[in-house]
Amino acid sequence: MKLSVIGCGYLGAVHAASMAELGHEVTGIDVDPERIASLATGVAPFHEPGFNDLLAANQQRLSFSTDMSAAHGCRVHFLAVGTPQSPDGSVDMTYVNQAVSDLLPYLKPGDLVVGKSTVPVGTAERLLQMVAPTGAHLMWNPEFLREGFAVEDTLAPDRLVYGVTDDEAGIKDTALLDEVYAAILAKNTPRLVMNFATAELVKVAANSFLATKISFINAMAEIADATGANVTQLADAIGHDDRIGRRFLNAGIGFGGGCLPKDIRGFAARATELGVGDALSFLQDVDDINLRRRARVQDILVAELGELKGKKIAVWGLAFKPDSDDIRDSPALDIVESLARAGVHVTGSDPEATGPASRRIAAAGLSDSVTLAVDHLGAAQDADAIVVATEWKHFRTTDPVSVAGHVKNALVVDGRNCLDSDAWKDAGFVYRGMGRS
Ligand code: UGA
Repeated sequence: MKLSVIGCGYLGAVHAASMAELGHEVTGIDVDPERIASLATGVAPFHEPGFNDLLAANQQRLSFSTDMSAAHGCRVHFLAVGTPQSPDGSVDMTYVNQAVSDLLPYLKPGDLVVGKSTVPVGTAERLLQMVAPTGAHLMWNPEFLREGFAVEDTLAPDRLVYGVTDDEAGIKDTALLDEVYAAILAKNTPRLVMNFATAELVKVAANSFLATKISFINAMAEIADATGANVTQLADAIGHDDRIGRRFLNAGIGFGGGCLPKDIRGFAARATELGVGDALSFLQDVDDINLRRRARVQDILVAELGELKGKKIAVWGLAFKPDSDDIRDSPALDIVESLARAGVHVTGSDPEATGPASRRIAAAGLSDSVTLAVDHLGAAQDADAIVVATEWKHFRTTDPVSVAGHVKNALVVDGRNCLDSDAWKDAGFVYRGMGRS
């Protein structure tokens, strides 16, 4: 089938290549000429494991363009543009609205627009009214992919959610999307069909639950620090209860990225608009707990080192999570910036994110205080402390004995509770974790 994917960020670009992998002929459209030029030559514009191979394997069925007219002639149009956070915390719908307006002239009767972006509840109903005069129809199909696993999550999702209208058109839309996803459905992937509002809510409810789970364990980390308990052992013990589960119970410097932080804020803002803000007031606590984690690292450093001005601190990790070069709302990069503002000379290290991080550091006017490098041992040279801010595998598996010879002062702050604390202590380091010592 001929498909278009409008918006070629992490979500759209991976979706486009994955749909080609399923055998469809796909056109990816984005307003960013650099991104399109890169994708058109088969080069991923961001770091995502397996994505370059997927692009290369499907060159024949993939094309990319900055021109919306390329959508003409496609039967199904996936909307995958970004929905960033507005300054007031609500969802900025500019790109979604613009993409749909721009697409309208190229829609024909029988076409299906499939929304994938994360949007405030009520959006699909509104967009359907925009699309309907063309004779095309619309459904909502939220995406649950995780960065770092985007290819795997798109080709083998744990569920497919369809938000459809409760009429003949909704039945036809379901059948058409089933055709697009036939190879995925053949693997017995659960497919849940529901109305627009429910499908839109599934996405933000899932992300809010995950964010709450992380902030819950981080709240326990605060209690653990005050009582001498160990939050990792606590998580292991409560996680054995199937009703709780161990995943997403890793305490540390908290969640970041382009999804969880903005989604909880956008969801709360939408609930307030709908007059049910009280139902989500707890998300403010989730957000507050999360942001406190970033400040906690600096508190530990001050407690251990005293005045930070003039110190040299190595921060291992800049991306918001491992296997990604994404620095959007990255707790790691926030820590780098606040240390630099406190007069610290920061040597930041990350295997993939030094490029985007150095642009943000320059924009913040902090280039004089921050040196970025891929080599984490080099970054630790003569450091007064090492902060582990992103749990990349090669940080986790670094032999502390080999690090001890580089540093000026043997202090490690494990912001992701990902190191073998005994091994670091045995190598002579003062080890400080987050809710464990
Ligand atoms: C998240 C969701 O997990 C996806 O299901 C969803 O599709 C996606 O948002 C989205 O809305 O597009 P992602 O942002 O890629 O995916 O990252 P996660 O793996 O959820 O991690 C988010 C943050 O939480 C990271 O900063 C991570 O370090 C942190 N985290 C995660 C913890 O601090 N503790 C944990 O136990 C787990």
